[in-house]
Amino acid sequence: MKNQLTESLVWKSLQSHFQELKNTSLRTLFAEDNKRGEQFSIHDLGIFFDYSKHRITTETIRLLTQLAKERGLARGIQAMFSGEKINITENRAVLHTALRAPKGSVVMADGRNVVPDVHEVLEKMSDFANHIRSGRWKGFTGKPIRNIVNIGIGGSDLGPVMAYEALKFYAQHNLIFRFVSNVDGNDFAEAVRDLDPEETLFVVSSKTFTTLETMTNARTARTWLLGKLISESAVARHFVAVSTNEKEVSSFGIDTRNMFGFWDWVGGRYSMDSAIGLSTMIAIGPENFYAMLDGFHQMDEHFRTAPFERNIPVIMGLLGIWYIDFFNARTQAVLPYDNYLKRFPAYLQQLTMESNGKHVTLDGMKTDYQTGAVYWGEPGTNGQHSFYQLIHQGTSIIPCDFIGFRTSLNLLPLHQDYLMANMIAQGEALAFGKSAEEVKKEGVPDHLAPHKVFEGNRPSSAFFMEKLTPEFLGRLIAMYEHAVYTQGVIWDINPFDQMGVELGKVLAMKIIPELQDKSKPLHHDSSTNSLIEYYRG
Ligand code: F6P
Repeated sequence: MKNQLTESLVWKSLQSHFQELKNTSLRTLFAEDNKRGEQFSIHDLGIFFDYSKHRITTETIRLLTQLAKERGLARGIQAMFSGEKINITENRAVLHTALRAPKGSVVMADGRNVVPDVHEVLEKMSDFANHIRSGRWKGFTGKPIRNIVNIGIGGSDLGPVMAYEALKFYAQHNLIFRFVSNVDGNDFAEAVRDLDPEETLFVVSSKTFTTLETMTNARTARTWLLGKLISESAVARHFVAVSTNEKEVSSFGIDTRNMFGFWDWVGGRYSMDSAIGLSTMIAIGPENFYAMLDGFHQMDEHFRTAPFERNIPVIMGLLGIWYIDFFNARTQAVLPYDNYLKRFPAYLQQLTMESNGKHVTLDGMKTDYQTGAVYWGEPGTNGQHSFYQLIHQGTSIIPCDFIGFRTSLNLLPLHQDYLMANMIAQGEALAFGKSAEEVKKEGVPDHLAPHKVFEGNRPSSAFFMEKLTPEFLGRLIAMYEHAVYTQGVIWDINPFDQMGVELGKVLAMKIIPELQDKSKPLHHDSSTNSLIEYYRG
């Protein structure tokens, strides 16, 4: 059993350090040290990570890295990479890092080197992706596939959609990609409204192949397909499955030769670089997909080997803890200044919140400290014209991650300069604000001055890279994955289960027959009963 986090000496030191630092402004910290920008930045793997606009000093980093050491982060990293069953509540290894391990390397899970298995699936995916992309794979009536519809939810949807949007520039443009996730029939209806079943391939993506939403959508898809193609044998040409559950895939009626497998040591929210990325690979081609995997792997190696003080995911994770547990920040904004990353915040919501939204330690004790923050965001500059007001002048502290690229994929005159100037300016405005004196000097009348003051002292990180390539996307995602794990180890929680999603699902299964049969007596609370009665009409 680990010592209680909040009882540790280093935690107490962090508390007193926080008391000393909490009233110090970023203006003062920058004025005191004109090398601060350089000092609190890491350049590695082509990422310029500037964390100088955080409310920290060298002492903060010293104490936080000390905390990481004392909480066994080095051991935790080693345990994850070596396939120990660190997902203790499900008795599973956590080996998403093996999904991007280069061919020929060795990663053991349960006494078996899993790298050859990973590459076998990758090769099968590549072969299939090439067949679809070249038009060699024909639908039941002999037409090539033009539309690819991924059916999945959670990790079997958010990763694929995010990666497709992020890497759309690299996609084969004569193919149409759609993503159906919601059990709301409107999602399916709109996704296929303009598609021809003869040219449509469904990729049914589900780790378990039992998820209500996905199986309902998959059955509806089959009915839709057979509505035109009539013959059951059409299913084999228009459905493939991505899953760990061969039995369920075959009982659904998908030929297991058209199944792409993965393993129970890949968590749903850590699976976009497994076969769950099949739609991504079809879109961008195997070569780009492998480049993305390489980017992931480079960040894995950085996380595994860089000293904590120079380790990007470790510093990110520690900064999160600093704000959540000491400044009482409850949310974290993720603000990509690249429109291709518009689904990145939604992707990160599952990654971070399903992982670290936990209230008990590995031993089942209730934590006496806050854990995972709410992640949210929109691409810049859209957010600036919406919620940034609250980040600048609201009453809560909201650390921000700005993500930007030097070079745009579409070189339209002026746009990139305007975009990047805005990203850089937002971090500056948040950190340094505008004081009452500065406002007065501008000749603002007294009664308006308080409204125009920006307190500043609002923290942000900047992640600057060259260009949004598959490789950089891989690095970026792995960076957040490992920041999440860093926090999980320090908080002594399990970032790899998701038991909090179960209760609502179970109750819904009980309510479904009650909605369908009006004569069923209701035994819920009075509020739930009346909602069911309202639906029954
Ligand atoms: O409901 C949560 C969850 O289990 C996620 O963790 C997972 O990504 C999602 O459902 C989908 O699960 P599956 O891939 O098994 O359909």
